[in-house]
Amino acid sequence: MTKLPLRHAGRVVLVTGGVQGIGLGVARRFLAEGASVVAADIVEADFAAAVADVARAERTHYVKTDVTSLESVENAVAETVAKFGKLDILIPNAGTASFGDIETVPVAEWQRILDIIVNGQFFCVRAALPELRKTRGNVVTTASISGLGVNFSLNSYFGAKAAVINMTRYMALEYGKDGIRFNAVAPGPINSHPGPGALFEYPELEKHYAEVTPLGRVGIVDDLPGVYSFLASEDASWVTGQTIVADGGLTLWTGEFNLGTVMEAQSQAAG
Ligand SMILES: NC(=O)c1ccc[n+]([C@@H]2O[C@H](COP(=O)([O-])OP(=O)(O)OC[C@H]3O[C@@H](n4cnc5c(N)ncnc54)[C@H](O)[C@@H]3O)[C@@H](O)[C@H]2O)c1
Repeated sequence: MTKLPLRHAGRVVLVTGGVQGIGLGVARRFLAEGASVVAADIVEADFAAAVADVARAERTHYVKTDVTSLESVENAVAETVAKFGKLDILIPNAGTASFGDIETVPVAEWQRILDIIVNGQFFCVRAALPELRKTRGNVVTTASISGLGVNFSLNSYFGAKAAVINMTRYMALEYGKDGIRFNAVAPGPINSHPGPGALFEYPELEKHYAEVTPLGRVGIVDDLPGVYSFLASEDASWVTGQTIVADGGLTLWTGEFNLGTVMEAQSQAAG
């Protein structure tokens, strides 16, 4: 990673889903910008080793956490404060999706996705608020373009991510008086697990996204952490309740037929 200004020096960040994918990328960025970072995840991992190239182990901490349990999230916040003395920035990022439509999805699966994404965010913010009040800190949630529009088959994920966006707005409204800012990042498709068998390396998918994305490719993890860092920084001190779409322009297009090609064909036919 290139040397970055230490704009988060002295700050303490808690990232859920922080040991892999987007969460790990975000954790690495805050560490590179001088923060201490706690990765809270249901998956056990050697977080210090995963970020050893950007920060010394003293500025890192891992806590096993299940975001679907308020008690577990309260423990993650308590461990953060015990280890680093405070909490400045919360990144409730843990999330997952599954496929199936309304008639076929098992009810338990529908509830599992909502539990992780919607209840998870609620529990994280509830547990962190007392600490964020003390630091006049801020929260950057992980939404998705799936909270702004829909595709086929992801069912509960669309509702869950739309809830993340509107909850982020609501929390910005409610807790602005405490000096706490809330913003959301809404990524488009991100190849967060590159390598053999990766969903977004399936040739048909890659070809499709290259065609329909103005920037011509599927996203990578490194496309996102700077957006989180900006929103959590003083550079965004007057920004709250907003959703920043980071999708290479994928959702810009209305989906209408390219009428320019019709006009061209008509004018050619007319000679
Ligand atoms: N990859 C994409 O295309 C994409 C696009 C838009 C939004 N997102 C969102 O970004 C976030 C991260 O996704 P990712 O692609 O890095 O996926 P990922 O699977 O790599 O990371 C998700 C992390 O959340 C953790 N997690 C899952 N359930 C948990 C629980 N109950 N308690 C604690 N941790 C839990 C997982 O262990 C994992 O480390 C998710 O919220 C996802 O919905 C992803």
